[in-house]
Amino acid sequence: MNQTKKFILITGVSTGIGYGAVGDFLEKGYHVVGSVRSEKDQARLAKEFPQDFTCLLFDLTKSEEIEKAAQEVTTLLEGRLLTALVNNAGGTAPGPIQLLEKDEFERQIQINLFGTRNVTNAFLPHLGATSERPSGQKPGKIIMVSSISGVLNTPINGTYCVSKHAIESLGEVYRRELHMYGIDVISIQPGPIQSEIWNKNQNQMDRFMNSDYGPMIKSVEDILEEAREISQPTKVISQLIEKIIDARNPRTAYIVHSRKWIVTALAHWLPARWVDFLISRQFKQK
Ligand SMILES: NC(=O)c1ccc[n+]([C@@H]2O[C@H](COP(=O)([O-])OP(=O)(O)OC[C@H]3O[C@@H](n4cnc5c(N)ncnc54)[C@H](OP(=O)(O)O)[C@@H]3O)[C@@H](O)[C@H]2O)c1
Repeated sequence: MNQTKKFILITGVSTGIGYGAVGDFLEKGYHVVGSVRSEKDQARLAKEFPQDFTCLLFDLTKSEEIEKAAQEVTTLLEGRLLTALVNNAGGTAPGPIQLLEKDEFERQIQINLFGTRNVTNAFLPHLGATSERPSGQKPGKIIMVSSISGVLNTPINGTYCVSKHAIESLGEVYRRELHMYGIDVISIQPGPIQSEIWNKNQNQMDRFMNSDYGPMIKSVEDILEEAREISQPTKVISQLIEKIIDARNPRTAYIVHSRKWIVTALAHWLPARWVDFLISRQFKQK
């Protein structure tokens, strides 16, 4: 058994940030444990990454699948701990919060919030959340792939904002509760990153075009176009994850955005009424 091998668990590795991170962390010599929710993706990735890669199969909304996967990881680790759990899996259900179907809103919260909590709880023992941790074993870190939507609310993307604000809160609560085990919890708050998330949501808002929100939705198209232009490659997130893992005292949260200071000002510094005004201008409400 190789005692020096590092293990990282990344959820949602079928595409985008998670997929990029698998390749990046394999290159760095890690054993990567990834999760997908379809057997097709599992077979594809097993073929693509034949070595040092374990692909778990679970949907974030299915507790029994998560528990089964946690048992597989117990067998794989043979008493070792994960260096990090990266809670990356998630999605979005865009549309005006008034008009989204009840089920759509609830399912998104179920995936992004309840699912992330279920996964975190299931893998906490593998990060060292136990008073009987063998000496010399370093506790793992939990990294939440949140979003700038976790610190800045924007229209027509409300469900996502609510769920990512909840993720920020969840992470902070975990950090303050897990301090006794030495497990740190850090949030990554990306702006636009090149991933499949953009394609997965194409045309989802067409059904709202004839509502009162039509003009706002039209301006979303311009905003998304601009976001695509400034979007960054997934590698920037992998590099930040590595930096967080290596840091003795990482910050609690990192905004990743090519216009980081504008986002920081909007999210943290400016009065909410000013932000309301600026957003209403951007969404051409006046
Ligand atoms: N791309 C951006 O601009 C951006 C910006 C800020 C934050 N983020 C965050 O980054 C994370 C990764 O997103 P991404 O951009 O890489 O998008 P992505 O390519 O769509 O990847 C999302 C991953 O999550 C998985 N997933 C979604 N719902 C799931 C469920 N119910 N159970 C299990 N897995 C599920 C997806 O699996 P399937 O392929 O099966 O759907 C996929 O593997 C997300 O949390 C997202 O909110 C992204």
